[in-house]
Amino acid sequence: MGWKNVLKWSEVTPQALFLNRRQIIAGAGALVATPALARNEWSVEETPNSFEEITGYNNFYEFGYGKEDPAAYAGALTTDPWSVEIGGMVDKPGSYDLADVLKGQTIEERIYRFRCVEAWSMVVPWHGFELSGLLNRVGVQPGAKFVAFETLLRPEEMPGQQGGSFPWPYVEGLRLDEAMHPLTILATGLYDQPMPKQNGAPLRLVVPWKYGFKSIKSIVKITLTDKMPPTTWNILQSNEYGFYANVNPQVDHPRWSQATERPIGGGLFGGRKDTLMFNGYGDHVASLYAGQDLAVDY
Ligand code: MTE
Repeated sequence: MGWKNVLKWSEVTPQALFLNRRQIIAGAGALVATPALARNEWSVEETPNSFEEITGYNNFYEFGYGKEDPAAYAGALTTDPWSVEIGGMVDKPGSYDLADVLKGQTIEERIYRFRCVEAWSMVVPWHGFELSGLLNRVGVQPGAKFVAFETLLRPEEMPGQQGGSFPWPYVEGLRLDEAMHPLTILATGLYDQPMPKQNGAPLRLVVPWKYGFKSIKSIVKITLTDKMPPTTWNILQSNEYGFYANVNPQVDHPRWSQATERPIGGGLFGGRKDTLMFNGYGDHVASLYAGQDLAVDY
């Protein structure tokens, strides 16, 4: 697997270097015990899926439609150097290289439930930092209401982007209050490894109370705007995929029920389990949608 080549850690800030030194140590093959990142208040208690499950069953259409295509083909993706263009209604627009994006941010472990709109689910031990930290640093201007995100466009390395009818690049968006919520992270890794390429190296969004398609991978552009931005699955099939895409067992997908989900790794007899409103994060996020009809704003 290609994760060892994801980042040159020498280019990362000293703080990030420190926080990620287990990767370096692991890469060097040394057997040195280092303290694990503390499981914090935002993490769930469930046991995470295995590294193999999380990195072997993916949706990343830039590398093909099959669940095993990303693991098979993402190795060719160049993720170093990497930069993110931050613009729109911000005080400090510009092209930020990855080390600069991470500067001053605290990388934490966040063990989150992850629920795909296709009705499968996992539990993933992400590493990442709160998106609000980056947005505060670049200075969100008054009047900004939404954040738009864009994935890398590089057909030479992303075979799924060659031809076809998909409107590349993959784009996503959040309302500003959703983007500023402490549960919303930019993830830089999982299981103490730099982000595997098939999971969206080197930087991807994770919004655990929303369907997985909101969690856009391999981000190269972040734009603050006063208009609701277009989002890929909504462009493709607006009656099936809305802008909000909050996990909601009461609002079915037109072609299947969202009441239950299939935990990956549950085995033949693992069965299905009930899907929770807001994927179980309702105590933290339900207030964001007070007064909204979530059957209309799906
Ligand atoms: N981001 C990009 N750029 N391209 C994609 O195809 N798929 C989305 C989301 N982010 C996707 C993407 C979907 S449908 C899901 S369920 C999650 O990524 C899957 O994330 P995972 O492979 O890390 O589980």
